[in-house]
Parts: sequence; structure tokens; C-alpha cells
Amino acid sequence: MAPLPDPRWRHAVVTGGAGFVGSHLCAALLAQGTDVTCLDDFSTGLPDNTADLHDHPGFTLRRVDVSRPFTVDRPPDLVLHLASPASPADYLRLPLHTLDAGSLGTRNALELARRSGARFVLASTSEVYGDPHEHPQSEAYWGNVNPVGPRSVYDEAKRFGEALTTAHSAAHGTDTCIVRLFNTYGPGMRGHDGRAVPTFVRQALDGEPLTVTGDGRQSRSLCYVDDTVAGILAAAAHGMRGPVNIGNPDEITMLDLARRIIELTGSASQIRFIARPVDDPAVRCPDITLARGKLQWEPRTDMADGLRRTIAWFRARNNSPDRRSAPSPSGT
Ligand SMILES: NC(=O)c1ccc[n+]([C@@H]2O[C@H](COP(=O)([O-])OP(=O)(O)OC[C@H]3O[C@@H](n4cnc5c(N)ncnc54)[C@H](O)[C@@H]3O)[C@@H](O)[C@H]2O)c1
Repeated sequence: MAPLPDPRWRHAVVTGGAGFVGSHLCAALLAQGTDVTCLDDFSTGLPDNTADLHDHPGFTLRRVDVSRPFTVDRPPDLVLHLASPASPADYLRLPLHTLDAGSLGTRNALELARRSGARFVLASTSEVYGDPHEHPQSEAYWGNVNPVGPRSVYDEAKRFGEALTTAHSAAHGTDTCIVRLFNTYGPGMRGHDGRAVPTFVRQALDGEPLTVTGDGRQSRSLCYVDDTVAGILAAAAHGMRGPVNIGNPDEITMLDLARRIIELTGSASQIRFIARPVDDPAVRCPDITLARGKLQWEPRTDMADGLRRTIAWFRARNNSPDRRSAPSPSGT
């Protein structure tokens, strides 16, 4: 589904715009005529992720750590706040950085929106539901999060970010929206970022065993990145406050996902079972009734199609720098 052009947006600031989802979002905004300032500290993203946009006259890329106070040259009318490590491998490596991005970074991005009179969208996550006792998860469910577990740096940072966004709107009248993104996949992911799709695709293409955690019966729901981007822009355009779930309600077990990727790549790889991470959720599936009803949004991309496009991108990038691990900022 192509996002609807919104003539109100002349200039958007995208924090974390050099990351996986952010780079697709920057491209979609530019394609609909919105100028974009991308702010990124490149802690988990790369300037290379937006290489196709660098020559666009409406695109500006700046190295900024949004956890520190910052200004932009031109006031935006839309602020999309995505800056945060997102894969477990990244946020476990960068725990304090992740807490800062969700708290201080969200505060600074909210202040930019307030000063500019801009609409603000927080990219929150299904991780706010933790290891859920309700299935599928609707926005009314408050979640089951371990506040001192290893994943808490991400989960609690996002929960705090939601509280801050809600309080900012109440205290200052900031025009805010919270979108809860569920697992998203597609071209542009890092092969070593630790998330299931890029890990399995890399392993299958390299002829390595696909490492499935636990018995592989834990489920996830995977949304193709174009659909996630369309959902974020639909929520931004609607004017709703959220939270609203953006994800694909089709569930798949990790074992089935691994088998599917072996089949689609034509790989001879086997499956190897490894230990399951601490506090890894058993199930994860969005109830998207709210997004369907209010935004007329739902995912359109069939999983086989999305996986084929992702595999093709990984094949084309086989020897390129996206196969590296992200550099680690010091002090975290
Ligand atoms: N991809 C998913 O499946 C998914 C699911 C739920 C929520 N989200 C949310 O969407 C957003 C983007 O996720 P992603 O998958 O693209 O991750 P990503 O790691 O690819 O991108 C995050 C970007 O934020 C940047 N960043 C991190 N801290 C920063 C800081 N302090 N200042 C400036 N930039 C900073 C990174 O360098 C990177 O470019 C995150 O907020 C994440 O929590 C993603």
C-alpha cells in the first residue's frame, strides 16, 4: 500500500533515519515530496543505508546523538523518532545508550516537535508487551515485562518513552502519536544484527546451519518493511494519539521460518538448535483491529514475496559492508 501524500508535511525530521526502518521511511517521505533531515549517530546504522538518497535535493543527513540537546536548521512539521538500538544483539551490547535514546533522546525529540509546532511520532515496540499473557496483543493490554532482566534496557526505555510522550502531550499540548511496531524485516537489515530473518538468510546463503533457539516453537509475526512504513505514515497523517499496533497478524514459528528460508534460498543448510535467550517471549502477534478500523491500514505483502525480496537483496550485497557488525560507541 503506497502511503498517501500529506501536503501538510514540507519537512520531516527522522531520528535514527540511517537505520533499517528509518532509511525506508526517509525514502518514502522524499518520494511523496517531503524534505527530510535525517539525524543519526551511526551507532547501529550506517550513512551507506541512505546512499541512494544523498543526491536528493530535499535530503540532509547529520551525525547527531539525539540523547544530547540538538537543534536543526529548519523547523520541521513532522518529527519521527526512531533513534534507538533495536535488535537484541545491539541493545545488549549498548545498554546505557539504549536507555538514554529511549529517555533523553525521546525528550529532546519531543522538545523539537513542541518548539516547531510539529506532529511527533514515537516508534515504540511490541516489546512493551514483554512475554505476554494475552494473545494476540491489543493496545489495551499492559504487558508483562521483567524490569531488571537483560532485555529491560530496551523494553523499559520504550515504556518510559511512551509515558514521556503521553505526559508531554498532556503538559504542553504537543501533537503526539505512539506506534507500536512489531517485528519488521526486509532489505537493509544487517546480516549480523541477530534478528531471525537476516540471521537465517545469511546462514542459508553461506551454507551454515540455521541456528534456531529453544525448540523453535516460539512464534513471531513478521511484517514486511514497506507495510510497516505505510502504517507509520498512516498513523502520522491520521492525527490519532495511539498507541496503535503496526504489524502483521500472520504468525509463524521460528522453526517454520527457518525451513521456509532454506526452501526459498535453495540452501543445503541444516537446522541446529541452540539455547533460548533469557526472557525471550514465547508468542508475539498483534491485534490490528484499531489500525484496520481507524487507519484503513493492514499489511499487504505476502510472506513468501517479502522473503524473496529480502533474500535477493542479501544475495546482491553478498560481499558488501552490510555483513559487518555495527561499531560500538564507547562508554556504554
Ligand atoms: N525493526 C523492527 O522489527 C522494529 C520493531 C519494533 C520497533 N522498532 C523500532 O523502530 C526503530 C528503528 O528500528 P530498526 O530496526 O530500524 O533499528 P536500527 O538499529 O537499524 O536503526 C536504529 C537507528 O537509530 C540510530 N540511533 C541509535 N541511537 C541513536 C542516538 N542516540 N542518536 C541518533 N541516532 C541513534 C542508529 O544508528 C540506527 O541508525 C527503533 O526505535 C526500534 O525500537 C523496530
